[in-house]
Amino acid sequence: MDVSGGHVLIPIPGAIPAPWGVFEFLDILTFIVHLLLMNMVVGGSIILLFSRLKRSISNGQGAPTIGGPAEALVNNIPSALALTITFGVAPLLFIQVLYGHFIYSSSVLMAVYWLLVVPLLIIAYYGVYIFARKSGTRGLLPMAVISASCVIFLYVMWTFVNNMTLMLHPENWAEYFNRRGGTILNTGDPTVWPRFLHFLVASVAVAGLISSLIWWIRKKRSNADASADNKVKSGLKIFSYATALQVGIGIWFLVALPREILLKLMGGDPLFTVIFILGFAAVIAVLVTGFLGKLAATSWLLLVTVILMVINRANLRTLYLEPYFSPGSLENTPQYSVMFLFFLVLVAGLAAVGYMLKVSFQTAEGGAK
Ligand code: HEM
Repeated sequence: MDVSGGHVLIPIPGAIPAPWGVFEFLDILTFIVHLLLMNMVVGGSIILLFSRLKRSISNGQGAPTIGGPAEALVNNIPSALALTITFGVAPLLFIQVLYGHFIYSSSVLMAVYWLLVVPLLIIAYYGVYIFARKSGTRGLLPMAVISASCVIFLYVMWTFVNNMTLMLHPENWAEYFNRRGGTILNTGDPTVWPRFLHFLVASVAVAGLISSLIWWIRKKRSNADASADNKVKSGLKIFSYATALQVGIGIWFLVALPREILLKLMGGDPLFTVIFILGFAAVIAVLVTGFLGKLAATSWLLLVTVILMVINRANLRTLYLEPYFSPGSLENTPQYSVMFLFFLVLVAGLAAVGYMLKVSFQTAEGGAK
């Protein structure tokens, strides 16, 4: 990696109020929640779009219902989108504490695309709401709104991948002196496409598995129709095939990494190598249980895989930024009373969200057939 010139453009970071590991841990934790919710929203919307498309083609002139396992997600997607955004704000807080001087810089360089995310997400929000209300009706409206929401989700995903990688490349920031309008992306980076596809295919896989779980719960509570068994199976099938595809995309992502970083993951850094190997082993295990149709084992293994992959992603960030910065070098000026207050509010907030989810799930499942 040629990093010549990059150092000059990096702003000087401020002090942090607690040891850096606290923020890294919270960043990883809250990002896992953001990721799973985002997967449910994006993957769920894509599966719903395709199910509806399939029905429209086979039924001739517009299908009144959606069908397929993701039918279970229709009414949950609007709330899941609200939670995706809430749980996006949390890692945004933590990432800015440690890496603010990188992510603010990259956000300014691509400000036009970055700021567009907000109004577009508001439109997508309306889209999934309208779809939830109109999915049982014929005509073009449901199809139009869910298609528009899917396009927006892909745009947001693309923008995030660009920002999360542009922040790792200060050596490319000098492009600002040629283009000052906030339209710089990181598309020259060979990892951008595989990284984007990695998130996209994972979304479809996770949404398939979540649908499967919802049908399984409904069946257990015996408020599901006879087709629930098939839907449990087909959700798991979507998960397994998408995850098999993911192996290929993951390998593409790996070989697109700069050579010195790849070597660190392949033995150069013992801890990072162990995490990487465990992540790979978890993917193989989840594939086996997925294709064997074992829902509970697949769900637990998926959780383990996601945790390992998110740690892997944080390790990659550390390796990319190594020539410039390490969070351990930040000055720590402890403010424990503020941190205590923060944790108190965090726990109270999580309890409130948990209660809200419980009530909304009970209401939704009470009405589900
Ligand atoms: C449906 C809308 C959204 C989608 C599809 C989405 C997608 C993504 C993706 C794919 C990544 C990983 C990018 C990468 O590592 O290359 C990501 C990371 C992130 N997203 Fe979201 N996102 C959405 C909404 C939001 C919102 C509204 C916020 C903030 C309010 C947010 C905050 C974050 C943060 C802070 C990260 C990085 C976390 C970290 O590195 O620890 N996201 N998002």
